[in-house]
Amino acid sequence: MGSPTDAGSGITRDAALPGMAAGTVVCWVIGLDVPPEVLESGCGLLDPGELERAGRYPLEHLRRRFMARRIARRLILGASLGVDAVSVDFREVGSGKPEVVRDESVPVHFSASHSEDVAVVAVSAKAPVGVDVEVYRMVEGSLWEVRHLFADSERSALERVSERERSRLFFDCWTRKEACVKADGAGLALDLDSFEVPVGRIEDDGVTVSFARGGGGCRAVRLRSLDLGEELSGAVAVAVAGRSIPEVVVRAWDWGEVLRA
Ligand SMILES: CC(C)(COP(=O)(O)OP(=O)(O)OC[C@H]1O[C@@H](n2cnc3c(N)ncnc32)[C@H](O)[C@@H]1OP(=O)(O)O)[C@@H](O)C(=O)NCCC(=O)NCCS
Repeated sequence: MGSPTDAGSGITRDAALPGMAAGTVVCWVIGLDVPPEVLESGCGLLDPGELERAGRYPLEHLRRRFMARRIARRLILGASLGVDAVSVDFREVGSGKPEVVRDESVPVHFSASHSEDVAVVAVSAKAPVGVDVEVYRMVEGSLWEVRHLFADSERSALERVSERERSRLFFDCWTRKEACVKADGAGLALDLDSFEVPVGRIEDDGVTVSFARGGGGCRAVRLRSLDLGEELSGAVAVAVAGRSIPEVVVRAWDWGEVLRA
């Protein structure tokens, strides 16, 4: 028997099934420079708002990347909920955090991030999640010194290292702070210098980060680094529920498999 197909897309949703166990956070890493047939097959999944936003990108490659990440986001969330990707509805809450409009009995939380030609979509069945990714690059000038971007302890840690090392640590610190802010949902309404993240290595099971003044209602998150290879800095934060430490898995999104299925 063939796999169920999303109406009109030609993309089968079984190919996207994350096989997500309760309590596990799955982080899908998605390459955004995709062959034209992916966009042709998948653009039927996008809603009018997404198509309108795609149309506003003046540069063709940015428009294509936006479409690719929104197609993948729909396929991943549709598969997680067991529904057609085309029927997943989104709304924005708080300071713009997107969430899935769904039946309360089917919890699904997600967060999305992109940098250049890579996106990450994190899906969690249990607790609000925030994810962030950045391509490592040189940090220009003294951006790291800008007030309110980092807590004092973070800025001092960045000050102590060589310029070369600082760029990498800057992005590690940045993605960690963004992941926390996104899990909370407050966006930049949560002061970035009002909470601290580690600047150096984080243990595999993560570290708990508390918010002195939570903007979106989260008191604390469990923060983990994502191992995304040499070129990418990534972090995921999961709202803390009791004493449990969420398992995090990273999976590569395979467009080829999606198209072949
Ligand atoms: C919007 C923001 C949450 C992240 O934006 P970003 O890092 O520029 O871009 P990313 O691709 O990582 O994230 C964008 C995604 O975040 C999500 N998002 C937007 N607002 C959000 C919010 N309030 N809470 C959680 N997620 C949000 C959306 O899914 C969005 O995807 P979309 O562009 O497809 O709609 C916000 O924190 C921001 O604008 N940051 C500015 C950067 C900054 O000053 N960082 C300092 C860190 S030290």
